[in-house]
Amino acid sequence: MMTMLKNDVTAALFLMIALAGIASAESGAAGKDIFTAKCAVCHGADGSGQTSIGKNLKVRDLHSPDVQKQSDADLKAVISKGKGRMPAFRGKLKEEQIEQLVSFIRELGSQK
Ligand code: HEC
Repeated sequence: MMTMLKNDVTAALFLMIALAGIASAESGAAGKDIFTAKCAVCHGADGSGQTSIGKNLKVRDLHSPDVQKQSDADLKAVISKGKGRMPAFRGKLKEEQIEQLVSFIRELGSQK
């Protein structure tokens, strides 16, 4: 009886670890999906801003040091409050989604 219980607990632990792994892989991908849906029109699918709207609005390449040197808090503030012709996304995106976008922008920075 005790061994049965121990096996169940072990199985439950393995399941939790497996699910946690899936969840974290999804949150990296989630930022990219949101970016493609909401941001790519202006910033380009790859964040380089090479779209006709992006060139018009003179968006900076999100890979660039000028963008990457800003803190996560700075980037979150631009996304939620907007800046110049960059629209505010507060209320349109959840806090968690804005954080996923910041992680995605950091991924761009590490690609170069
Ligand atoms: C309507 C076009 C447009 C859309 C849509 C848009 N942006 Fe922007 N974004 C801009 C412009 C223009 C700027 C430059 C603002 C400035 O510096 O005056 C900018 C700036 C930024 C910056 C600051 C980079 C810098 O130049 O320092 C970040 C980060 C950013 N956008 C992220 C996003 C994210 C994430 C989304 C999607 C949720 C998004 N943007 C959607 C136009 C857009």
